Amino acid sequence: MPKAIELKGVSWRRGESLILEDINWTVEEGQHWAILGLNGSGKSSILNIISGYMWPTTGEVSVLGHKFGTIDLRELRKSIGWVSSSLQEKIRPNEQALEIVVSGRHASIGLYAEIEQADREKAETLMSDLGCAHLIGRTYQTCSQGEKQKLLIARALMASPKLLILDEASNGLDFISREALLQSIDALAARPDAPTLLLVTHHTEEISPVFCHSLLIRRGQIFASGTSKDVLNNEDLSEFFEMPVGVEWRAGRAWLSVR
Ligand SMILES: Nc1ncnc2c1ncn2[C@@H]1O[C@H](COP(=O)(O)OP(=O)(O)OP(=O)(O)O)[C@@H](O)[C@H]1O
Ligand SMILES: [Mg+2]
Repeated sequence: MPKAIELKGVSWRRGESLILEDINWTVEEGQHWAILGLNGSGKSSILNIISGYMWPTTGEVSVLGHKFGTIDLRELRKSIGWVSSSLQEKIRPNEQALEIVVSGRHASIGLYAEIEQADREKAETLMSDLGCAHLIGRTYQTCSQGEKQKLLIARALMASPKLLILDEASNGLDFISREALLQSIDALAARPDAPTLLLVTHHTEEISPVFCHSLLIRRGQIFASGTSKDVLNNEDLSEFFEMPVGVEWRAGRAWLSVR
């Protein structure tokens, strides 16, 4: 089975601190994973290593069938889409919604050339699939938080990535917008050309059934990994959070509360 991501014995040291320690993790092609962990546990560090922005101190990394050290990382990054809240701040307030989406084709911030017809059509289709086609003609600053997030997902999809990282993509969304975003992600996962999805979240109930696998990171180490059904249970999550918690499964999602 081809592998989308393979990390073998990956550690990452910064000065005195060992930020990631002996990470062994494989994502098979066709799997979608959720990543859970408290603030500072090392989630973004793992994603930075996968995207080639940081080099591991020890260990081997392969992404989309390419072993690091043998490939041009700039080329690989064109196949990786990344949506995070820090990206939101980089978009110019007066930029047009359609331009924002089209700019994802070249992984650039801001557009300096005329929009080509084929790009326009692709952007419009993506926006319509994500339920944000009505934003065409609007500037970024007039969009709500949820609308902005959808534009950034459409933007990431513009380059037809093989791997899409959603790093706390639902931050700041109201109840309805969050559910709408989760539905859009489900619809995306159902497409025949769906990219491998990695969902970083602090909320287990956002892990919809398409994220059939979960990775739990604690203090730079893998605490647990496996199918979400297996990993997200009372006993393991209580040990993980070092607090007694209970999980209730509803509509295929794990709702967590303190016991
Ligand atoms: N360049 C760096 N130099 C030194 N320490 C760093 C560096 N980057 C990250 N760290 C530290 O590594 C740890 C893991 O950070 P990371 O950003 O991976 O956490 P995270 O799990 O993504 O947290 P959050 O949920 O808050 O986003 C933190 O303690 C952070 O301060
Ligand atoms: Mg982070």
